[in-house]
Amino acid sequence: MSTLAGKVAVISGGATGIGLAIAQRFAAEGAHVYIFSRRRALLDQAVERIGRNVTAIQADATNLDDLDRIAETVRKEQGVVDIVVSNAALVEQAPIDTLTPEHFDRTFNLNARGPVFLVQKLLPLMTGGGSIILVSSAMHVMGIPGHTTYAATKAALRSYARTWAAEFKDRGIRVNLLSPGVTDTPMLDSQVSTPEEREALVNMYLSMVPIGRLGRPEEVANGALFLASDQSSYMTGADLMYDGGVGQV
Ligand SMILES: NC(=O)c1ccc[n+]([C@@H]2O[C@H](COP(=O)([O-])OP(=O)(O)OC[C@H]3O[C@@H](n4cnc5c(N)ncnc54)[C@H](OP(=O)(O)O)[C@@H]3O)[C@@H](O)[C@H]2O)c1
Repeated sequence: MSTLAGKVAVISGGATGIGLAIAQRFAAEGAHVYIFSRRRALLDQAVERIGRNVTAIQADATNLDDLDRIAETVRKEQGVVDIVVSNAALVEQAPIDTLTPEHFDRTFNLNARGPVFLVQKLLPLMTGGGSIILVSSAMHVMGIPGHTTYAATKAALRSYARTWAAEFKDRGIRVNLLSPGVTDTPMLDSQVSTPEEREALVNMYLSMVPIGRLGRPEEVANGALFLASDQSSYMTGADLMYDGGVGQV
């Protein structure tokens, strides 16, 4: 299959989890994917797993100079960008009583400020139109204790998609949200210190998921492929909730 033949995609946080699954899927469908994140070793492993049609750039999504460098690299090598996936994010649980300004800034800086400047820097390269996918979370419509900042940043993306769908309409660029549910990635591990804590966290989430299991990154990548391709040609400003039902009940 080559649904994305000849397309150029940029994916933030494309070395692990959902970003990696999206990169693998897009590359298999014929796109050239640029993945970027901070840890070189994980980028190298990702390139090996993706196998072809991939370029890895070590860069920080919160650093505007890094974003300029990514845009310049893609401009020189490809001239255009067709698909942007803003995927990199962090989650730190923090009840309001102990939430610090540093935690607030860290979360908003990556999850809410990062996507704005990623899109701003790549927009001039989207000369042939295209698709922007903002990876949000089912949590943006839910109220789960300890997620004041994370859920709010994901709700901000819902707003960006609406604004940008209107703002970019004359450029032939569609903008949609992709909202995963609880998905089995390193992000789950980042919230716990022991296997017992992980099990408790997973069980807490599973009690809320109608489909009764964690999502797989490859399943979320199916949603990304739909939003990236012409199969979603009449869809913009929308939210594709690929969440096992957790945000629906
Ligand atoms: N897993 C879930 O249950 C779930 C549910 C709903 C939504 N999501 C969303 O799905 C997206 C992907 O998450 P995931 O679960 O796949 O998590 P993940 O495996 O932890 O992936 C996050 C990626 O972002 C990169 N990253 C982190 N900080 C960065 C920075 N400053 N600059 C560039 N890259 C950075 C990480 O690499 P480095 O640390 O090496 O930079 C990593 O590759 C996120 O937006 C997340 O909020 C996940």
